[in-house]
Amino acid sequence: MKLRIIFLAAISAGILLTAFSTGEEVERPMPAYVGATKCKICHLEIFNSWADTPHRKALSSLQGEEAGDPRCLECHTTGFGTGGYAADAGIVDLAGVQCEACHGAGSLYSLSSIMIKPDLCNQAGLVAPDSLTCMRCHNARSPTFKGFAYKVGLLTGTHSRKCN
Ligand code: HEC
Ligand code: HEC
Ligand code: HEC
Ligand code: HEC
Repeated sequence: MKLRIIFLAAISAGILLTAFSTGEEVERPMPAYVGATKCKICHLEIFNSWADTPHRKALSSLQGEEAGDPRCLECHTTGFGTGGYAADAGIVDLAGVQCEACHGAGSLYSLSSIMIKPDLCNQAGLVAPDSLTCMRCHNARSPTFKGFAYKVGLLTGTHSRKCN
């Protein structure tokens, strides 16, 4: 596991370096968060099954002042600290752990002309989530953490498969 993380870190560092060294040519606009209601337009079944998971209601689990505490918002909202929740000043609803918390900010990939082409999706920032995606939040920094089982979590914590 440790090796895998180091490996991934090395790859990301490589990508960053490449991006910097060839700055002008590869510069792309930063994707913005669009909110789950945008994804719902085309992925209704998935949206509905996701809306039944605790992720949808993650912000309302925070009581009183916690709901404004950056230390909690990082994991209980979508894109906090990376241009999402709060930074968007409430223009779109990014409460809870929405699609883009796992799949990446969607303004560039969520166009139908891009979505139907996996290569273009990836270039536009679509993330294929894996266990590391989950462990950004499901880790011992969570005050309630009692461990995390990826395969079980996939079934109960994400959404239905192969129907949009
Ligand atoms: C305009 C319609 C449309 C919108 C809006 C849209 N999608 Fe899609 N999406 C599609 C279509 C069509 C496909 C390709 C067929 C399929 O897998 O459903 C797709 C595929 C996907 C895939 C699978 C890609 C792959 O390589 O297998 C993911 C993940 C995805 N969408 C996530 C999202 C998320 C997250 C949002 C919101 C930020 C979103 N989509 C918004 C139409 C849309
Ligand atoms: C942005 C942070 C974040 C990411 C990424 C995330 N989760 Fe969660 N998850 C949460 C929070 C916060 C809760 C608690 C929601 C509540 O009850 O308020 C939660 C709750 C859950 C639960 C229900 C409670 C539990 O622990 O059994 C499951 C299952 C789950 N997540 C699975 C996943 C899986 C699988 C992934 C990755 C594919 C994932 N999560 C990615 C933040 C995240
Ligand atoms: C590193 C990510 C992370 C941070 C930071 C975080 N949480 Fe969570 N929180 C989670 C996850 C993931 C869950 C699901 C249960 C678990 O594995 O801890 C959760 C669950 C919860 C729950 C629901 C527990 C239940 O099962 O009913 C509450 C309440 C909660 N968190 C409060 C807070 C508060 C308050 C803070 C800030 C002081 C906070 N969390 C900070 C990730 C986080
Ligand atoms: C907690 C993380 C998480 C959230 C939130 C999430 N997804 Fe996913 N999604 C995944 C994972 C993990 C996979 C890959 C599943 C697999 O390997 O079987 C996936 C796969 C997909 C796929 C492709 C597979 C298929 O069934 O067609 C689509 C489309 C998709 N997600 C759309 C969405 C949309 C739309 C939302 C919001 C309504 C959303 N996802 C929310 C984790 C998440």
